[in-house]
Amino acid sequence: MSKVTVVGAGNVGATCANVLAVNEVASEVVLIDIKEGLAEGKAMDIMQTAQLMGFDSVVTGVTNDYSKTAGSDVVIITSGIPRKPGMTREELIGVNAGIVKSVAENILKHSPNAILIIVSNPMDTMAYLSYKVLGLPRERVIGMGGALDSSRFKYFLSQALGCNANEVEGIVIGGHGDTTMIPLARLATYKGIPVSKLLSEDKLNEVVKSTMVGGATLTGLLGTSAWMAPGAAASFVAESIVKDQKKMITSSVYLNGEYGMKDLNIGVPVVIGRKGVEKIVELDLTADEKAKFEASAEAVHKTNAVLKEMKLI
Ligand code: NAI
Ligand code: 2OP
Repeated sequence: MSKVTVVGAGNVGATCANVLAVNEVASEVVLIDIKEGLAEGKAMDIMQTAQLMGFDSVVTGVTNDYSKTAGSDVVIITSGIPRKPGMTREELIGVNAGIVKSVAENILKHSPNAILIIVSNPMDTMAYLSYKVLGLPRERVIGMGGALDSSRFKYFLSQALGCNANEVEGIVIGGHGDTTMIPLARLATYKGIPVSKLLSEDKLNEVVKSTMVGGATLTGLLGTSAWMAPGAAASFVAESIVKDQKKMITSSVYLNGEYGMKDLNIGVPVVIGRKGVEKIVELDLTADEKAKFEASAEAVHKTNAVLKEMKLI
């Protein structure tokens, strides 16, 4: 028996609630939004698929009533505005920072033990803000970006290899941004075989590039940012917590010396279980990867500085 709340019943939030229900990640899923009736409508729509899809999870929707979220084990925050074509994730900070902060504070009043998964963009900065203002241990504030970016990386690798994406391993570290994420091509494998032995350098570079602009490509096609894979990725992280799966999932966590970094949230591989972040895995990076990671951290620090200017931290 577990309860997961999803804040924001928009594209990502509603998709996430749907995946949580269909995969029976939680027995109870609460969808909450500020827009009157939206969460109720999306929840009812999902519940009308229960008999068709054969799931037993119960999804309810509420408008801004946080008492209904009480006792949640996991809370996924997707509230805020998405990017429009041509916009970067970083440009969303002005609006989303205020929303994420107030939402997270309301959540904790009713679910003091919840583990938070932050999705709203710019995600690394929103996760950092949540960690800084809420007073929670860093294990309980998890930014979701690496799960999505790694899944996109595996998709593009599988396309290049002409194989099933489930047979490919690949991780993306760094910030969740078009220029800050680092798909680690060196460590990617197909059934244990390094992909560098199967794909030309040019092809591999193309895969890396497509991964990095994966979100922007979809924003261009859709007119708003993607939601299917983002919603599924947030549910994937929640499932590892709720079912104590201890999966290694790249996530944006607060670093305190790991990777030689301090005072920021950034994507690194972590083991996720019932306690949240149970272990930070320190990869042995090459000099080139290290330099990219440092540049990525620099960019994330720069975005975080806006929080200070806004007097939010
Ligand atoms: P959307 O516009 O479809 O949904 C956002 C929802 O948040 C709306 O229904 C809105 O009414 C609600 N909302 C706004 N203020 C609220 C408040 N104070 N309390 C409760 N609900 C509130 O946007 P979408 O596409 O679902 O994206 C949501 C966020 O997730 C965006 O910031 C987007 O950039 C981000 N995102 C992050 C990804 C990641 O990998 N971290 C991937 C995809 C999107
Ligand atoms: C994505 O990667 C925009 O963060 C969003 O699709």
